[in-house]
Amino acid sequence: MVQTATRQSIGAEFTEHFAVSKERYGRAQTLIPGGVTHDSRHFRPFPVTVDRAEGAHKWSVDGHELIDYAIGHGSLILGHNNPLVSTAIREQLAQGTHFGAGHDGEVRWADRVRKLIPSAEQVKFTGSGTEATMLAVRLARAATGRKQIVKFAGHFHGWNDYLLKGERSLTDDHVAGIPEQVLDTVDVLPADVTALRERLAKGDVAAVIMEPSGGSWSMVPLPDDEFLRQVREATAANGTLLIFDEVISGFRWSPGGAQAKFGVTPDLTTLAKIVAGGLPGGAVAGRLEVMQFLAFKDDPDWNTNRRVRHPGTYNANPMSAAAGVACLDLVSDPDVQSYCDDLAAKIRVGMNQTLRHHGAPGFAWGESSTFHLALGVETTSTEDDIRRPQGIDLSGAKSAGKSSLAITLGQGMLIEGVDLFGGGGLTSVAHSDEDVERTIAAFDRTLRRMADDGLFG
Ligand SMILES: Cc1ncc(COP(=O)(O)O)c(C=O)c1O
Repeated sequence: MVQTATRQSIGAEFTEHFAVSKERYGRAQTLIPGGVTHDSRHFRPFPVTVDRAEGAHKWSVDGHELIDYAIGHGSLILGHNNPLVSTAIREQLAQGTHFGAGHDGEVRWADRVRKLIPSAEQVKFTGSGTEATMLAVRLARAATGRKQIVKFAGHFHGWNDYLLKGERSLTDDHVAGIPEQVLDTVDVLPADVTALRERLAKGDVAAVIMEPSGGSWSMVPLPDDEFLRQVREATAANGTLLIFDEVISGFRWSPGGAQAKFGVTPDLTTLAKIVAGGLPGGAVAGRLEVMQFLAFKDDPDWNTNRRVRHPGTYNANPMSAAAGVACLDLVSDPDVQSYCDDLAAKIRVGMNQTLRHHGAPGFAWGESSTFHLALGVETTSTEDDIRRPQGIDLSGAKSAGKSSLAITLGQGMLIEGVDLFGGGGLTSVAHSDEDVERTIAAFDRTLRRMADDGLFG
């Protein structure tokens, strides 16, 4: 249909609707490079600035209420300002925010992690997920005496120098600012068990690190249900440690993460986000024998030369520990995960039915309490709830949320009061059926508008 002269484009309406955010972004850009403090918050023509959140909703500085599917980059499975987590934070604030010393909170926190995560015999806290994966790799190298690390294309492990390579694709092997010598210590493989077995047989791989959910919280699904078990067998057979990066899937795929859900136990697990109840924090948990490489002994040579060094001003920060303990107590109830899973499945199904209704190319997919969306791409998958889409490759899946159609959809959804995350999103216990219905209605109106504007060809 030809656009009428009176009807605004989605882009023009977005700019008008979020005029205050636009102004704030202008100021942010003068002080903060690119105007955003996390790459994923970059948005065209500008990101929305938020000043308040409650439950599953947040409010932009323009005064618009948004249903939030970023939900603290996945860390807020209990929603914004969960009363028990907020009380724990307030109580800790009154006691002090940093003791420069050990505290009971960190021991309580480690105990909660150990109870929930099958691989966790011991736990060491870090300041973030990026620090956790960096520490896990260092531990694996120290414990095995080997240098090389294997990761899978499309899996994201934070932004440390070792693990950013291969995040976008198999050939994503140049990362500005990271020396080739560092990049060369990591081999990126396709998620293919034959390729993995061949690589591990050389006997020089310290660890395989992977997201057991599939890359980027199921955006890049694992090839099949046997894969995790096969990777476990192949690593064990070659003296290679297996690291599950459960920064997102931990406490989300099940109370014990993806490893408990799929019954495959790694040597080391990295955690962040939910583990700290939405405050900054992360952890490496794992087998005692490996974790002991972090421990001091009555042996100066060990302490100086063999022990893995791990300082960090904010490791096990008391505020994060308090939030983490309160949060982990709540997420130990599997009803939390099944509720969030059901809502995300309703969103995936609702979006796929709506796309079909409009004859618009595209599909939603995902697992657990997540959904991803690719517009302008046909899939041969015919189900309503798609777990492993056909017709889209690894880099297609990873870039789907950044396409110009995805940006227009994102703008349209924001106008309608829905904030997607990376073109998809994650659910929390604070989201309601009504939020989901509103989301699908917003999606329907936005798709209709995009179709009317001739955006689907
Ligand atoms: C699977 C995974 N690993 C590691 C990280 C890095 O965590 P952080 O952002 O806390 O450094 C992320 C962040 O999104 C992640 O999704």
